[in-house]
Amino acid sequence: MKTDRVLKISLLMFMVLFFFFHLFPLIYLFDVDFTSSFLYDRWNLSSTRNDGALLRHRVLADPKKQRSLGATLLSLAVDRKTDETVGILFPGWEVFVVADPLFAGPGEGLHCVFPNNATSPARFAGVLPSSDRETFICTLPRSARRHPYYQPMLTMCFRSPYPVVPHRQPPELLRWNYLAYDSLSTEDDVVLFVKGVNRWRRISLPPSELNCVFYDGDDPAVGVRTAVTSSVQEVFRCGHPLLAKGGNGQEEHVNIKITLEIPLEKRFVPSVAYYAPYRASPPRASKSLTCASTMVYNVAKFIREWVIYHSRIGVEQFILYDNGSDDDLASAVMKLTREGYDVSTIFWPWPKSQEAGFSHSAVLHNTSCTWMIYTDVDEFLYAPPWDGHNHPSPLLIESSILPRPPRAEDIGQVSIKCYEFGPSGQRSHPHGGVIDGYTCRNRMEQRHKSLVRLDAVDWSLQNWIHHFSLRQGFREERLGLERAVVNHYKFQAWPEFKIKFRRRASAYVADWTQQVNPSSKDRTTGLGYKAVEPEDWADRYCEVADERLKRLTQRWFGTGYRMPWD
Ligand SMILES: *[C@@H]1O[C@H](CO)[C@@H](O)[C@H](O)[C@H]1NC(C)=O
Ligand SMILES: *[C@@H]1O[C@H](CO)[C@@H](O)[C@H](O)[C@H]1NC(C)=O
Ligand SMILES: *[C@@H]1O[C@H](CO)[C@@H](O)[C@H](O)[C@H]1NC(C)=O
Ligand SMILES: *[C@@H]1O[C@H](CO)[C@@H](O)[C@H](O)[C@H]1NC(C)=O
Repeated sequence: MKTDRVLKISLLMFMVLFFFFHLFPLIYLFDVDFTSSFLYDRWNLSSTRNDGALLRHRVLADPKKQRSLGATLLSLAVDRKTDETVGILFPGWEVFVVADPLFAGPGEGLHCVFPNNATSPARFAGVLPSSDRETFICTLPRSARRHPYYQPMLTMCFRSPYPVVPHRQPPELLRWNYLAYDSLSTEDDVVLFVKGVNRWRRISLPPSELNCVFYDGDDPAVGVRTAVTSSVQEVFRCGHPLLAKGGNGQEEHVNIKITLEIPLEKRFVPSVAYYAPYRASPPRASKSLTCASTMVYNVAKFIREWVIYHSRIGVEQFILYDNGSDDDLASAVMKLTREGYDVSTIFWPWPKSQEAGFSHSAVLHNTSCTWMIYTDVDEFLYAPPWDGHNHPSPLLIESSILPRPPRAEDIGQVSIKCYEFGPSGQRSHPHGGVIDGYTCRNRMEQRHKSLVRLDAVDWSLQNWIHHFSLRQGFREERLGLERAVVNHYKFQAWPEFKIKFRRRASAYVADWTQQVNPSSKDRTTGLGYKAVEPEDWADRYCEVADERLKRLTQRWFGTGYRMPWD
């Protein structure tokens, strides 16, 4: 008797679980229209343009209607009807898929299915910081590479067909060259990142010819506008919208998108950028004097040496903008944080958007860092006067590189020249790290890298990767080679360089073996497009032996034969 009941209950639970884990995505996929009475109303959003306020209140569910958590989940999915999953066509026939938050599918075994029923596996890419949405990358199947390019659906079943909705064309993929892609809120305004509105480095539309629009659903025309105060490169700044409090007194704007309106052209830029209201970050004990921010892709192998070395000379926080790494960056970072280093990662998957990422980092860390170093993980700060120190010290950057009072007041940026190191005879990644392994370089110094005082950065956030525009009243100080240099381990052992070279080439041409853009500056002279090792590679770029930093770190750390990053 008793076992019977237990059996019944477990059977019921099994059915409930089965339903949610197996059928839920199917229902979702097929866009089934359940208008059941137990479902509660959709979030209500309406806007009145006159007062610029966005009225949002949640229609509180009748408690009787809330039969179970399952019903609630289902109601949200079904009631919203539209799946907000959206795909963007990236260079190289990659489809970058931003999943609907309700598609809390498992990270593995997902596929993209296209309207011609072609599928390709979806690789988990990361979670977008502003909207908390999961993202995936699928290759656009060859059979779907015909204009118009259609949106895929995410599915758990390899063979599921694309749902046919009568009388409706499937939506087209968003194009990466014309898109509002990310946003960030400060206490006073919203920073919006948009491709394709301002022509790169040349013409910027005046802010007065643009509006920011905050909207729910598909139609920006009924959204709330705010004025744009700055428009330079891919970065736009505008006011916060006035948002009414939700039913429970809290602001709720989970699904509010932001985009730009160009009234003269009667156009709205397509958007995957969501609005996240400003949240003061938890107070830190104190503001760090020096932080470092960098773009990374598959640098797990290099990150320890870079973090440990720089923390010993005074960098307190490290912020990595991760461009979709698929190596073991996460565990390398976790290992460092467990050892007490302050390292954080921000997912920044946007192609060719390094400047925008640096603008993002300048705003985001303005409250926690006074100075920010913008270098790559193959670049190491070094000051010749440190040769006189027997031990490293966290005061070194402050005492020999940052401007010292009383003449510090108006210096907003310190620029330091780079020396480019060659393979130095190495044929694979050196065991003792890059400082120890690469000791031969070109004679001439190269373009500079910068340390930037974040509160001196211009409102527009304009930058050229290695330096920022400064506000009026601030100037840049250029350090001579006798004061400081950046050791740039640029041309590493062939197996390392090949990977970097291939990626860089692919950023300029769809297929990196195609000779489309032979004049690009970022190509390495003499290599063409062939990733074939030149016979003399290991000895190239070697005009001057420069062992200064190697000898210094051996003196500082080299107890036995191990560096602290081994
Ligand atoms: C949504 O809000 C509008 C205006 O505030 C109101 O007229 C409408 O009835 C609301 N819809 C629901 C479903 O409550
Ligand atoms: C995809 O598969 C479904 C179900 O088998 C079918 O109804 C639909 O016509 C197919 N679409 C194409 C473009 O072949
Ligand atoms: C990020 O990755 C994409 C492709 O995955 C590439 O095209 C782009 O250049 C990369 N961006 C940076 C800043 O490395
Ligand atoms: C940092 O904050 C200061 C003061 O609050 C402000 O003047 C400055 O514009 C901010 N800088 C950035 C890059 O946001």
